[in-house]
Amino acid sequence: VTNSATASAPGKIIILGEHFVVHGSLAISAAINKRATVSVSATSEGDAIISSRGNSSRLQMDDGRFRAVKAVLKESFRELNLPGKGLKIEIESEIPPGSGLGSSAAVCVATAGALLRHFDRKVDRESVSRLANRGEASVHGNPSGVDVATSLNGGTILFEKTSGVSEIKADPTIEFLVVFTGLERNTSDLVQKVSKVKENFPSYFSNLSESISKACVLGKKALETGDLETLGALMNLTQTSLSWIGTSNSSIESLIEKINKIGHCHGSKLTGAGGGGSVIALPEITNAKKIASEISKEYPDAFLTNIRQEGLRIEQ
Ligand code: PMV
Repeated sequence: VTNSATASAPGKIIILGEHFVVHGSLAISAAINKRATVSVSATSEGDAIISSRGNSSRLQMDDGRFRAVKAVLKESFRELNLPGKGLKIEIESEIPPGSGLGSSAAVCVATAGALLRHFDRKVDRESVSRLANRGEASVHGNPSGVDVATSLNGGTILFEKTSGVSEIKADPTIEFLVVFTGLERNTSDLVQKVSKVKENFPSYFSNLSESISKACVLGKKALETGDLETLGALMNLTQTSLSWIGTSNSSIESLIEKINKIGHCHGSKLTGAGGGGSVIALPEITNAKKIASEISKEYPDAFLTNIRQEGLRIEQ
């Protein structure tokens, strides 16, 4: 057992394929330059105490706080045969919760990493993935696993629910603009809403799913070759599908309109569950900073990220 262990993991954007990925299609996602950091240390107090920005809760308290982290901790203690007492878990995150940027998955991945490190266990991908997905399942209901896979792996990946991760060597000059609408939403509600669409219109939904997978195959190639025009067009096309299945809304669409008005972007779409959350746009490389500063006047949290970020990192 170490005195204390710290791990960090990045948030993510889904470049193509959210929602459809839950039902078996391909998706492309990438880690972003905003991370969650979790420290685990020993304390003389009895229970395990979880805290973040002045909020705290005890593991055995059923107060609705830190649900995902508590699920990761409980599963870890069970699996590792640990008493799960006398521990302090401190969370710091740069990823706004409810913004569609994978904040809960990043926290779950970092928690699993720090915990395994603290107890001198092997921090292997399979264990972290299993534990972190437990946390995600406790808040999401039916997660595809793309959020955890992206945060753990880092970089840019092609993901499928059954076959998992294959890495994409994206052109290093590619940058995405990420803008939070400011509207927090609940992933689980949106995933359920989409399942209803699938239930009511099965053949329509399966055609859309097939098109999304095809878009991902083309998107992978565009990312590798730096063909931003094609990638942007694919983003615009999938935004239309996401709007058809009811995951877009006026906060997303008015933001996309504003981005279009500024111009110099190859494409834009919602990212993650939708219903608010964040929008991503693919700016022309030479105009990226200018566009980011323009949109920041109205959306101060807007930022640019490359898509070659490190995944889970053990800090100490
Ligand atoms: O908005 P987020 O970060 O919760 O992303 C959810 C992505 C979905 O495809 C909508 C759900 C999933 O589990 O894949």
